[in-house]
This record gives sequence, C-alpha cells and structure tokens, in this order.
Amino acid sequence: MNVLILGGDGYLGWPTAMYFSIRGHQVTVVDNYFRRNACTELDVGMLYPIPTLTQRARIWHELTGKEIKVVIGDLTDPEIMRSLFTGSVEYAWSLDSSFPGVPETVIHYAEQPSAPYSLINYRYANFTLRNNLLTTNNLMFAVRDFSRQTHIIKLGTMGEYGTPNIDIEEGWIEIEHKGRRDRFLFPRQASSLYHTTKIMDTDLLWFGVRMWDLRVTDLMQGPVYGIETEESAMDERLRTLFNYDEIFGTILNRFIVQAVVDYPLTVYGKGGQTRGYLNINDTLQCVYLSAQNPAGPGELRIFNQIMETFSANELAEKVQRVGRALGYNVRIEHLPNPRKEAEEHYYNPTYQRLLEIGVVPHYLTDEVMEGMFRIVEKYKENIRTDVIFRGIHW
Ligand SMILES: NC(=O)c1ccc[n+]([C@@H]2O[C@H](COP(=O)([O-])OP(=O)(O)OC[C@H]3O[C@@H](n4cnc5c(N)ncnc54)[C@H](O)[C@@H]3O)[C@@H](O)[C@H]2O)c1
Repeated sequence: MNVLILGGDGYLGWPTAMYFSIRGHQVTVVDNYFRRNACTELDVGMLYPIPTLTQRARIWHELTGKEIKVVIGDLTDPEIMRSLFTGSVEYAWSLDSSFPGVPETVIHYAEQPSAPYSLINYRYANFTLRNNLLTTNNLMFAVRDFSRQTHIIKLGTMGEYGTPNIDIEEGWIEIEHKGRRDRFLFPRQASSLYHTTKIMDTDLLWFGVRMWDLRVTDLMQGPVYGIETEESAMDERLRTLFNYDEIFGTILNRFIVQAVVDYPLTVYGKGGQTRGYLNINDTLQCVYLSAQNPAGPGELRIFNQIMETFSANELAEKVQRVGRALGYNVRIEHLPNPRKEAEEHYYNPTYQRLLEIGVVPHYLTDEVMEGMFRIVEKYKENIRTDVIFRGIHW
C-alpha cells in the first residue's frame, strides 16, 4: 500500500509511519513542525529531545533498510497538498526522489490537537480554526481532483459528542420524527474550540462524500496514553514525542509525570469527568486495520476509537496505587476546574466496530502503567514542574 501520513512528526504520526513501514508499505510523511514550534513558543518542555523528522527517517533506514519519505511543508498551502498527488513534491529526505504515485490511503493527523491551546485567546482560536479546516479542505479537494479512489482516514475525537444524557452511538443515529425515519450524524456538542473544529472537519468530509463519492473513515478517538511501541523499542531515538504540560499533554501521560516528580495529580473539579481511553499501540492497530478494510465509495464510515472508559478520579487513583507500589508518595489534588464541563454526568458510548474488524485491545493494566513510570523515571531530570499547570481558562 502507498500511504501518505499528514502530521507524520507528531505523537501519533511518527509511530504510525514506522508501523506501516515495517509491514512493507511505502510511506511518505509530511509535517511543518507546528507542534515542536508551538512547544518552543509557549515554553512547554517535552520529556526528552527528539531528532528532526529527517534524522528519524535516516535512523529508521539505517536500522531497518526501509524508506520513509519526508516532506516538510505547511498543508494549509493547497499547492503543497496537491503536489503530494501530482508528483511535483519536493522531498526533504528520501532514498531516491522518485514519486511513489497517488496514495491509496491518506492518514490525516495534521491538526492543532489541543483544547487549551485553542482557547488561550482569539489569536490561538483563529489559528486552530484556520489550520484544522484548511488542512482538511485542501486534502478533500486534492482527493476530489486527482484520486477519488484514495481512502481518507481522518482522526476525529470522542470529544465531538460531548457528554449527552443518552447513549452515544458509533457516528450515526436513526431518528423517527412525525412518523418518518432517517439516518443522521449523531448529535455533536463539543466543549472546546479545538473539538468544534473536529466537528467542522467531519461536516466538510461528509459533504465531500455526498458530492463526489469520496471514501472516508472517521476515527472518533479518545485521549491516547503511552510511549513505547514495538518499533520505537528498537532504538530510543525512534521514541515518539512526549508532552506532560497542560497544553499538549494528555491526562494519563501527565499524571504519571506528576507522580514521578511528587507533584499532586491535577484533577479538575469533582473529577467525575468520564472519557474513553486507548493505548497508543491500539491507535496503531485501529488505523492499520481501517486502512486494510477501507470505506467504500460514497461512504463516511465512523468508528468510536476507545477501548475502556474511566473518570478522572479513577485514573488518578490507579496512578496513585501503582506509584505507591513503586515507592512514590503520590498525592491527588482537586483544583478549581479551569474548563467549562460537566463534572458528574452520564456516559455510555458504544465501541464495537473496531473490534469487529480485528482490533485486540491493550487495557490499562498496572503493568502497562509501571512500564510508563519506568520510562518517565529515566528522564526525571528533564521534567519542569512550572509547565505542569497554569490554568488556561475557558
Ligand atoms: N493524542 C490524542 O490523545 C488524540 C485524541 C483524539 C484525537 N487526536 C487527533 O489525532 C491527530 C494527531 O494527534 P497527535 O496527538 O499526534 O497530535 P500532534 O500535534 O503530535 O500531531 C499532529 C502533527 O501535525 C502537524 N501539523 C499540524 N498542522 C500542520 C500543518 N498545517 N501542516 C503540516 N503539519 C501540520 C504537527 O506539527 C504535528 O506534528 C490530531 O488530529 C488530533 O486531533 C489525538
């Protein structure tokens, strides 16, 4: 399979690139280093330094003999997006500069992924809207104009649904109204501007599916945790980037870092906020199996990509228990909630369809958490407690 990964330098993008490459697929990654640059601009440290995307591709080639072609560019520029389909692309690194042809699969990760970032102020809000909608729209038009058979796998988030007081279906709901029935996208009601852009992305691609018979899979992903994947375990220079700050860190990754440096776990408000979670290794499986079983022409296929649900309190208690067994004095603190969200609510999402195509979940066991503690401990000296919490308000 010829696979194009947009946002290939990111937390999920780089492990995905290695996962497809080692399984024999032709992989091209594209990134503009937004994530790294934003961390520098906002002065939020990562747990350890990571090589540039070009260096990573070289290391990968040295270790495996496989090629991951690298393009550095901003995908809000339509010409850069289109060059990936026409062959006029310029590679920052590749073994030879030959064009592998139009991609059969595009995995679209290239977005600003942080809720707090999108609400720092109106400028960050504008950036998030512009970046996320333009990358998606440019992709939609490139596929429409050059390769309608290409399967788009786009990352959505469970946060698009919000926390409704009814069960959450996998993407669609049948509604009977005044004696007639029809099928609609399940109602969306996000609680951040970032999540709202993900809703708008879905609407854009749903339009493209209806108008031009595009093939789209939307993966409604929950917060991801984890560091190591089978491929990164080959060499620590291949590890994915890891943030533990309030802006780019996800909850479990953050809690483990906080536990290691004796910083009280930052539970917002009452801590009853319940979400669906998954291990980074399961993201890779989900994306891979979706690529191998593509959506049909004119299909917007939606999978809820979570493996289990926990409240913030439950996660904090798990980290406390495992941390204490490892000798850490883990404390939990309930901070005034900087976000506007329900702190106690009903939450019952359906998540069956990825299991039906063969995903085998990795659950959040004590052993998995201990593995994360062991990696984080190695970099304890790098952890900056000043970036853990600063209280960006909604
Ligand atoms: N990590 C999670 O827990 C999670 C949960 C749900 C959904 N998602 C979604 O998955 C996707 C990937 O998330 P992630 O955690 O890997 O985020 P990330 O920030 O690590 O990865 C996104 C990558 O895209 C790049 N990018 C952004 N805008 C770009 C542009 N205009 N041109 C080129 N490159 C650009 C960034 O530099 C970054 O490397 C995002 O769409 C996010 O919304 C992530």
